[in-house]
Amino acid sequence: MSTLTAHSSIGDWLDHPEGGAAIRAMLAQSGGGADSLTPVRALPLQQLVALSQGQMPQSVVDDLVRSVNGGEIPEDAEGGAWRERVTGGRFDGKTVIVTGAASGIGRATASRIVREGGRVVAVDISAEKLAELASELASVAPEGSVVPVAGDVTKQSDIDRIVAAAGERIDGLANIAGVNDDSSPIHETSDEIWDRVIGINLTGVFKLTRAVVPMMRAAGAGSIVNISSEAGIRGNASGNAYTASKHGVIGLTKSAAFMYATEGLRVNAVAPGGVATGIPFPANVSAFGSGRLKPFQDAIPSVATAEQLAASITFLLSDDGVNINGAILTSDGGWSVQ
Ligand SMILES: NC(=O)c1ccc[n+]([C@@H]2O[C@H](COP(=O)([O-])OP(=O)(O)OC[C@H]3O[C@@H](n4cnc5c(N)ncnc54)[C@H](O)[C@@H]3O)[C@@H](O)[C@H]2O)c1
Repeated sequence: MSTLTAHSSIGDWLDHPEGGAAIRAMLAQSGGGADSLTPVRALPLQQLVALSQGQMPQSVVDDLVRSVNGGEIPEDAEGGAWRERVTGGRFDGKTVIVTGAASGIGRATASRIVREGGRVVAVDISAEKLAELASELASVAPEGSVVPVAGDVTKQSDIDRIVAAAGERIDGLANIAGVNDDSSPIHETSDEIWDRVIGINLTGVFKLTRAVVPMMRAAGAGSIVNISSEAGIRGNASGNAYTASKHGVIGLTKSAAFMYATEGLRVNAVAPGGVATGIPFPANVSAFGSGRLKPFQDAIPSVATAEQLAASITFLLSDDGVNINGAILTSDGGWSVQ
């Protein structure tokens, strides 16, 4: 039986006699059971630290690894859960704007593009977290590869600053910034939630895309990837406002893909299923909406990592996506076919 490490999948841990016993004992302490881990069986054990949002410190994972390896943390071997494999030079010479770059899927996408040779205009409302990203990537990428722009994608003046920061050329745009709604059905949705969710998730995508397209048309080339959601293709994945915003992203994507199809532009969308990013929920979540959604959310076949979504997004953004235009790529482990 192979050595268990923090990089082994949760499924491998559960199926291992000692590893399974150690995890079940840990869960029992908090009154939980192994069934709760079924949707995340494919993720590396390490991911539990991020998934728990502060409840489970790194030391718990380290102790689990030690407990099945005679008190040592072994060298990580190849194999186990999926690992990101960087395609060297795939974004050489390209400038890509990535929104939501300070956290989760946007951060993983920005990081991958930079490590594959690209220059990223990294946009987020959080200046502090953007600075963390820039300093982390400074050690692995040439100077100037990350251009942080702290800004709000709903404000035209910030859109103008983002485009100005890109400079002479914009080869790609990944519209990833987004927020959750409160799971409310339409009769409970407040103007505040509606305006915020539609503003960031849909109007922000509209404004930045509108600003970038003229430069791409002039160059006769460009790749745009918009992040929709499972909630963009069905009615039972989220609340009313989020569902409307993500369906809107798909409409915007299809229209733009059609309009510029003969001009060298490609416009596609990725629809993630569950992703372990810790994207926050508003303070008050609707009991009515959550109750209606629960059976469908419980049926999610698997939860992905941000890096797995970045793999789908960078595929479409890069020249590997040649000939793909107007596609809505579900990146959800098969949730959408249920
Ligand atoms: N996590 C999931 O399960 C999931 C599933 C489906 C779709 N999505 C979508 O994926 C995208 C990324 O989500 P994530 O899970 O990485 O979330 P996240 O919260 O980790 O990252 C979103 C980022 O967007 C930024 N942001 C929010 N409002 C902004 C604004 N007005 N201007 C600029 N930046 C702003 C936030 O500061 C944050 O850094 C979102 O569009 C989300 O709707 C996520």
